[in-house]
Amino acid sequence: MTEQFAIAIMAAGKGTRLKSKRPKVLHEVGGKPLLAHVIRAAAEVVPAENIYVIIGHEAEKVRVALAHTGVKFIVQAEQRGTGHAIQTARGELAKHQSFLVLSGDAPLIRSETIRRLRDFHLSQKAAMTILTARPADPTGYGRVLREGATDRVAAIVEQRSLRPEHANLGEINSGFYAFNSAPLFAHINRLSADNVHKEYYLTDMAAMLVVQGERVMAFRADDADEVLGGNTIAELVSLDANMRMRKARELMSQGVTIFRPETCVIDDDVQIGPDTIIEPFVQLLGKTTIGEDCRVRSYSVISNSVIGNHVTVRHGCILDGSAVANGALLGPYSHLRPGSEIGEGAHVGNFVETKKVRLGKGSKANHLTYLGDAEVGEQVNIGAGTITCNYDGVNKHKTIIEDGVFVGSDSTLVAPVKIGRGAYVGAASCVTTDVPSDSLALGRAVQVVKEGWARKKREEKKKR
Ligand code: UD1
Ligand code: CA
Repeated sequence: MTEQFAIAIMAAGKGTRLKSKRPKVLHEVGGKPLLAHVIRAAAEVVPAENIYVIIGHEAEKVRVALAHTGVKFIVQAEQRGTGHAIQTARGELAKHQSFLVLSGDAPLIRSETIRRLRDFHLSQKAAMTILTARPADPTGYGRVLREGATDRVAAIVEQRSLRPEHANLGEINSGFYAFNSAPLFAHINRLSADNVHKEYYLTDMAAMLVVQGERVMAFRADDADEVLGGNTIAELVSLDANMRMRKARELMSQGVTIFRPETCVIDDDVQIGPDTIIEPFVQLLGKTTIGEDCRVRSYSVISNSVIGNHVTVRHGCILDGSAVANGALLGPYSHLRPGSEIGEGAHVGNFVETKKVRLGKGSKANHLTYLGDAEVGEQVNIGAGTITCNYDGVNKHKTIIEDGVFVGSDSTLVAPVKIGRGAYVGAASCVTTDVPSDSLALGRAVQVVKEGWARKKREEKKKR
């Protein structure tokens, strides 16, 4: 028996009401699986080795998806209800004097609330404490029946078992509890599956412990939204909106301006510096970091990228796995694919696609260009329509463009190829061999002019 607090997270259910092939707890809200949010909140309260996640439906998928968190997994092979889930975990949980039980499908829970539930439970010397809430609409949740106006609970009544006299019960069971091991495990085997679902309900422990003369308490969460669960797709979508609005508010409290935040999709791990402005309909996904004094204009989608300070991302840019240095200017409609590194003050403009490219300080590729597998130095000008031909059908090859190079419009640079420092490439050249520094490369057919040709042509046509 250890004094260390444990946390069990119930995540074995199938999620029948989602009508989905994917297990419920792997459905994503805020860009991450439901369960990942609950684990994160729990891990802020106890060390990961004291967290037991109860898995069952598609257990291996769930285990693989969350293995990186360092929690322990317990398999409930057959899902016979929340009470049965805790019975399954008895071997581990009974080693702890007390523990918390969380639902893996309620991702808005905050660590602060988990901590307060634990502290309340310990201070009350209760056998069971139920985290409760009063949401606007309690439909679907188990209701908490208190003993008069006290904090003591008489029973939890599941939605399906509600009787007319329960109609006014607005306080719900959140599915989050604190237990003392001894009284719980002394009686848990007496749960019966004599109900509509033929399941062992953990919620029945409340009345059972009361009958045994144990203290069962209610602890009400200030914010009912925090305990909302997701049982249907519509509920998951609403949790997602809720979570993203919470994220937007947090960023705004740190000095970020987000216009029409309800239209933006900002993942949990995104960080943004103060005085940055995010316009409507922007998506910031994954581990994206944006510095100070930036502006991200509408319809841009930025994933897993790092953006410095004073950067402008104009309308409709797509960035993935890229890094953008201070003062750079992107878009409108630039596509930065993984491995793009845009230097300080560099410009990447209209309909320019980059991939695995380093674009040096002050360099510009402003129009209709593809730069792939390239190293571009500083103060380089890439003319409109320039293309690095990086792929020969079998292998990818590199293009090196040194500092101060000027590449004229509509040039094709057939890699592997190097253009030396300060060189010029004439417009519409097809460059197939290295260009030495400070030279001019012209790789295009010599122009032919036939004077009067057009006039003659027109006259011939008239005669016919
Ligand atoms: C449960 C509560 C209900 C409460 C609500 C809060 C019961 C009987 N009812 O209902 O009072 O208001 O949560 O959201 O507990 N699970 C397992 N093994 C199982 C069955 C479920 O691990 O055999 C897991 C599920 O994956 C889920 C959690 O337990 O994460 C809750 O189960 P769910 O079926 O969603 O319960 P609710 O009907 O929401
Ligand atoms: Ca649920």
